[in-house]
Parts: sequence; C-alpha cells; structure tokens
Amino acid sequence: MDTQNIAEAVSMPRIGDKAPSFKAVTTQGEINFPEQYSGSWVILFSHPADFTPVCTTEFITFASQEEKFAAANCKLIGLSVDGLYSHIAWLRTIKEKIEYKGMKNVEVNFPLIEDITMEVARKYGMIQPGESSTKAVRAVFVIDPKGIIRTIIYYPLSLGRNFEELYRVVIALQTADAFSIATPADWQPGDEVIVPAAVSYGAAKERMEEQQDMTCYDWFFCTKKIDKEEILNTILKK
Ligand code: BEZ
Repeated sequence: MDTQNIAEAVSMPRIGDKAPSFKAVTTQGEINFPEQYSGSWVILFSHPADFTPVCTTEFITFASQEEKFAAANCKLIGLSVDGLYSHIAWLRTIKEKIEYKGMKNVEVNFPLIEDITMEVARKYGMIQPGESSTKAVRAVFVIDPKGIIRTIIYYPLSLGRNFEELYRVVIALQTADAFSIATPADWQPGDEVIVPAAVSYGAAKERMEEQQDMTCYDWFFCTKKIDKEEILNTILKK
C-alpha cells in the first residue's frame, strides 16, 4: 500500500463530526446514508468477514436484539468488505444452521452493506492496517438523528462485542440529551445521574448551600435521581 492509500485507510471521522455520506448496496436494497436515516439513531458497525465464527455470534446476538434497539428509535446497519452474494449466503446459513446461546433460526433483517471496494470502510477508518489491511476491524459508530457521530468504539478482530453495552450507550446518550445530565461509570437507567458542573463561583456556593433535589459531595460533584420509568417513558417509543 502506498503512503496516500495508508493515509486514506486510517483517516477517521471523530465524535461530533457529521457522519460521512455514502450510497451503498445492502442486503435490504440500496441505502443513502445518513440522509435516509434522518430522525433515527443508528448503529453503523463493521465486521471483518462473512462466514467467520466471531462475526456469526455477533450477528445472531445483534439481530436477536433488533426490536429492543428499534424501540429506542435506533436502527442497525452492518458492513464488511465482502460482496452481496456472500452476505446473502452467510445470512441464510446463520438462519438455517447456527445456534448460539439458545438463539436459533435468527433472521438478520437489518441491512448489511457490501463494500468490496472498501470505499465506506475507508471513509469511516474501519480499515486499520496494523490489525489487517484486507478486513475491517470491529468498529461501532453511534450516530444521532441529526447525523452527528456521538460515540465511536473499536474492537480488534479477535474480540466479539458486548451488545448490552451498545444498548446502554444508546440509552445513556438519549438520557443525557433529554435530561441535560451526564451518566457515571457503569450507569444503568434508574441509577443516580451527574448534574452538570456549576459554571460560576456563585452557582457553586449556592449549590452547596441549597442542594435542592441534588446530592452534592463537593461543588463539582452533584448527583440526582431520575427514575428508570421516567427515563424509559421519555426515550422509548410507546
Ligand atoms: C471471526 O469472526 O471469527 C474472525 C474474523 C477475522 C479474524 C479473526 C476472527
């Protein structure tokens, strides 16, 4: 690979950037991204190759949770640098033959992008030559309804993703947007959330003296409770 191609292969969008646009052929027809997905959250994720075992467990797990993500207004889109017929054959094999952790007959109904030219994978920095120059790593982009990249997570080829964590990321981002708070380590809906830091000396003093509906351990560290039900009623579609 020459220097320019290496630079292209590792160029990466960043959190806060507009998701790079592309048109692509998928197992669910052509898509025009992100325009067609305006108004929805999206998880765009890559996997190294069809007909590989770790990827197979990931697709079974993700497809089994598709409805849960849909209820959070989040659509799933997969990608690998394989062709459409390979994708179709692999998804048929998954449905017909593979069982993983009690999940079987699983149909993958979300689009899987064919990216033989690596055009999309390169735009999203999914080709990381130190890991592989012929396969995409396990990249995850969480994109909001305005087409802005909100979270990026990368895993190497050998490590299958935790889809409960990806769901937690989507719910946490939506909760932060809806309630103007931040979410602490290992947060789950119903746990205490972090109230944004006071931005003036006076506000810090007032916060420590009055505390209102918050618990302040110090002026910069205040938490409050938002009930799980309130969160889920606010962010999940009825
Ligand atoms: C897998 O999905 O099993 C896999 C793919 C590429 C490299 C290593 C493992």
